[in-house]
Amino acid sequence: MVFSLKFTGRNIISIEDFSRKEINYILQVSRNMEPIASKGSDILKRKILATLFFEPSTRTRLSFEAAMLKLGGSTIGFADADITSVKKGENLSDTIRTIENYADIIALRHPLEGSAKLAAEFSRVPILNAGSGAEEHPTQALMDLYTIQKEKGRIDGLKIALVGDLRYGRTVHSLACALSLFDIELYLISPESLRMRKGVVDSIKNQVSITEDKNLDKIIPQIDVLYITRIQKERFPDPAEYSKVKGVYKIDLKTISSGKNDLILLHPLPRLDEIASEVDDTPQAKYFQQVWNGIVVRMALLFLVLGA
Ligand code: NCD
Repeated sequence: MVFSLKFTGRNIISIEDFSRKEINYILQVSRNMEPIASKGSDILKRKILATLFFEPSTRTRLSFEAAMLKLGGSTIGFADADITSVKKGENLSDTIRTIENYADIIALRHPLEGSAKLAAEFSRVPILNAGSGAEEHPTQALMDLYTIQKEKGRIDGLKIALVGDLRYGRTVHSLACALSLFDIELYLISPESLRMRKGVVDSIKNQVSITEDKNLDKIIPQIDVLYITRIQKERFPDPAEYSKVKGVYKIDLKTISSGKNDLILLHPLPRLDEIASEVDDTPQAKYFQQVWNGIVVRMALLFLVLGA
């Protein structure tokens, strides 16, 4: 592999820190990781990844760990901060200043917005933001882009809808920013109370055409990519507000049949009831392929940031 861009030692905090050229490069390195993900490698032998997860996770933590193992490295970490000194009152910066002695790179998931940025200010080793509250999830956005490119052969020229909880969903914040670097049409479909954060819309509205709407059925026939998300119950300040929007969008076979034949359906997972299980066997359903893509993209990121 030829290094054309500099990633060694970089933090991955926000998708906004990356240019289109850099994103394309990450996607290219991810493609090169596909055979290595199947065969395994020792490129990162003796390197240690720490996964510090202060919030629940299945895919992000385990795929970071699997990615490191597939590259020959090792992992340490925790999936429940309640069994660490955080329970005794230790703050995030002290936790980071401890773990940096044990690991070459840290993947951090934390409920607070700004947590990854804060951690990076204290850390001597690179920080990978694995989800910072409702704010950002940059590595998920990269695997979402990778999935779109792999499935559709391109990103430019597509009509892409982000659907569901655009207010509290961090994946859609990072993905909307990433997509704004491409020549696409973006549809933001949500209930009024869960509209895309103003800060995100303002930061991308001059780069990309945006249509905001509540009605999913209306836009389905036009779009190429449908990215639906879970309503983020745990982030609602008021449970009554959650009840009003719970189950608002549901994709079933009827929805799929009203779309283009080559529509693809993505979801960062976990799903609740947004996608009926009957959809899983349709050619449009790509959310489990997306899970595999998470491995190769995270392998690429570990490889690039650790400068292997
Ligand atoms: C997402 C997350 O944690 O933000 N999950 C993931 O990382 N794949 C989406 C969600 O929890 O709804």
